[in-house]
Amino acid sequence: MKVLSVVGARPQFIKAAPVCRALRAAHEEVLVHSGQHYDYEMSDVFFEQLGIPKPDFNLAVGSGSHGRQTGEMLGALEELFIEQRPDVVLVYGDTNTTLAAGLAAAKALVPVAHVEAGLRSFNRTMPEEVNRVLVDHLSDVLFCPTRAAVGNLAAEGISHGVHLVGDVMLDTARFFSEDSDGTEALARFGVDAGGYYLATVHRAGTSDSRSRLESVIRAFSRLGRPVVWALHPRTRKNIETFGLDAALAAATNVRVVPPVSYADSVALLKNAAALLTDSGGMQKEAYFFGVPCVTLRDETEWIETVELGWNRLAGTDEATIVEAVEGITVPTSRPDVYGDGQAAEAIVSALEARFDARSAASVVE
Ligand code: UD1
Repeated sequence: MKVLSVVGARPQFIKAAPVCRALRAAHEEVLVHSGQHYDYEMSDVFFEQLGIPKPDFNLAVGSGSHGRQTGEMLGALEELFIEQRPDVVLVYGDTNTTLAAGLAAAKALVPVAHVEAGLRSFNRTMPEEVNRVLVDHLSDVLFCPTRAAVGNLAAEGISHGVHLVGDVMLDTARFFSEDSDGTEALARFGVDAGGYYLATVHRAGTSDSRSRLESVIRAFSRLGRPVVWALHPRTRKNIETFGLDAALAAATNVRVVPPVSYADSVALLKNAAALLTDSGGMQKEAYFFGVPCVTLRDETEWIETVELGWNRLAGTDEATIVEAVEGITVPTSRPDVYGDGQAAEAIVSALEARFDARSAASVVE
């Protein structure tokens, strides 16, 4: 079986790592990097730390408006798919890279398999929501991390090719987080275990609005512990553009650090008193490690984390964020709602059953 996998943005490297490993044990994988993320600390460091093979192709699309970025990828990927003729194109998550690859494959009449299918925020102003809805409807095989995701697809009339496999981010978390308690990283960041909050903010809805970003900075400044804020490049740029540097500098408990590697992110998260984030994936990672989360959004795709009491939706209102952090309680139970950490194996088995000519069980659904 020849699988062509397309990645391009930081969360996709984390999701692809276990699948690449499982796939390459028995199959041919062609790995394509769209170049959506290109800085060393947004891309290369993840390939190095997670042992992801060097991409066979890098489209180097870089930054741009959504249309330009997606369009450039679409053209280049279509050519590549026609030339490579894989049995299936594998895409991850909900970024512009996911949409471009899914659409290019569908146009080139190559089957599409979507890892992290069925997630919904029901907020169409999020570029990610548009991307994931479209890709799910283009996909032949849909790998859902949760029961809720399977239900979302069913509600949209998608039931063929749907597999509940668990969450690949749990595979990565289990594989890479067990050998270190993070002591060395904490010393480097100058914080004590349990004595700080970890923060990340990058989503367009938060970081492209001056008032929301200001409100988040003010909320952080009122918290009773140091806040280690791993600043995404788009957020860093917007803080400068909006003239919020002074407000950030005045928040003396906030320690701004550049985007952190996977190992540092795990070390900082595992040992944090809580995570404050607008990221999707990190809400789950907090759950994996038993760390409470305050989400700086009004809705989440990872509803299990909220239902089980590990995650509070605070939006970007200053007072609401402060209240949510001050009111954190740590639940006693943390069921395996994201699977067993073997999602990658389940994905490869399902792909084999469907696309591997050598598989006796090869079926057409
Ligand atoms: C993208 C995804 C988002 C994902 C996030 C993870 C879309 C629509 N969004 O958002 O779902 O959660 O990645 O980080 O695909 N930049 C750099 N260096 C880089 C990459 C980006 O400086 O290596 C800056 C550029 O100024 C760029 C901006 O960040 O314009 C935004 O980057 P982009 O890749 O468009 O989206 P993200 O905000 O990273």
